[in-house]
Amino acid sequence: MAFASTLEGWNIRGLDELQLANKRVLVRVDFNVPLAEDGTVADDSRITAALPTIRRIQEAGGRVVLCSHLGRPKGKPEPKYSLEPVAGRLAELLGQEVLLPDDCIGDAAEHLVANQRPGQIVMLENLRFHAGEDANSEDFARKLADLCDVFVCDAFGAMHREHASVSALPKIIPDRAAGLLVEREVAFLSKLTGGAEAPYVAILGGAKISDKIEVIEKLLSTVDGLIIGGAMANTVLAAQGQPMGRSLVEEDKAQLARHLLSRAQERKIRVWLPVDHVVAGAPEVDALTAVVDAGAVGEGQMVLDIGPKTCALFESVLDGSLGDGWRAPRTVFWNGPMGLFEKEPFAAGTLAVARALARSPATSVIGGGDSAAAARKAGVTSMISHISTGGGASLEFLGGHVLPGLVALRGGRR
Ligand code: 3PG
Repeated sequence: MAFASTLEGWNIRGLDELQLANKRVLVRVDFNVPLAEDGTVADDSRITAALPTIRRIQEAGGRVVLCSHLGRPKGKPEPKYSLEPVAGRLAELLGQEVLLPDDCIGDAAEHLVANQRPGQIVMLENLRFHAGEDANSEDFARKLADLCDVFVCDAFGAMHREHASVSALPKIIPDRAAGLLVEREVAFLSKLTGGAEAPYVAILGGAKISDKIEVIEKLLSTVDGLIIGGAMANTVLAAQGQPMGRSLVEEDKAQLARHLLSRAQERKIRVWLPVDHVVAGAPEVDALTAVVDAGAVGEGQMVLDIGPKTCALFESVLDGSLGDGWRAPRTVFWNGPMGLFEKEPFAAGTLAVARALARSPATSVIGGGDSAAAARKAGVTSMISHISTGGGASLEFLGGHVLPGLVALRGGRR
């Protein structure tokens, strides 16, 4: 895939277009990772995804200064949001020390960066310990800019935020570029917004239709087929008049669901919905489960996963064995689980979709933390063409928004 040409189209430079030797290179990464109860990093995917950029800068003789947010502290230091465990995990992955000053700006950070040798890594403390970050403060951005000669953004997951390190900062550093992760994300996601190889199928799940309206609207002008599962399907089925018992349903979105279905019909887009469900009285691991056909959900029951017939249906959509003239897709985008997959009794449908996607020869793209976690749980990540590190950012990109972090990288010194 021609990654560089995608960036050129945006008038954004790639990492290899910058002079990096002996330069202080500030890299905005998205190390907003989940932490386990003992405070260690529970999932390091976002850290490993940034390693190619870090290593490339080191190889070019640059001095890497990393900056990130973690969680949502309210503009002042909160120990539970310190990047210390993240720095520890990065040090393990790189096999070298990672220096972490106790603030992202000020004397300690300045001193460490001033004395940093090529190849050494500094990671600044959580950017959101300063209110200026969320406020997109130019003043805060200038303090960060003082720490570097060159800026690289590799924080795809945060590029939909109009925050100082993502938006104000790049604009004031002439030598700026996208990192390798951002290049890859933009290349894959751009493919899905225009010119995706047909048949193109989107698999949508998760809790709410209302969260994904824009992306669904956009997908209705690009896809050939739509698979809908998860609680989102509950709302659609309820809008069609099916009893959904005690299931999660967005009652006030019934009209919207009907409108989306009729848009799909006008555009001759095939839509597949669950034909059976796994139900239980409560979303508990020890609850008694049953499988019921669509239309037969009892009053006291909650739909918590797709059933086995639905798994088979969705699998045959993805492998082209439906037998009604439908061909196997060449491009698939997946966002959102098919059920409450974090709980074992309701995980089978989501895992079946992950495995079917892995078997498919289509270009497969996963956006969204839950679907990515499901792919990991199913052990199939290496068989997916691209797993986006940005949940919100990937949906905004596919919904047609121009991400503030991309806008800020445009232009720069030529
Ligand atoms: C994410 O995890 O989606 C990004 O890191 C952005 O985090 P935020 O939603 O707290 O801005």
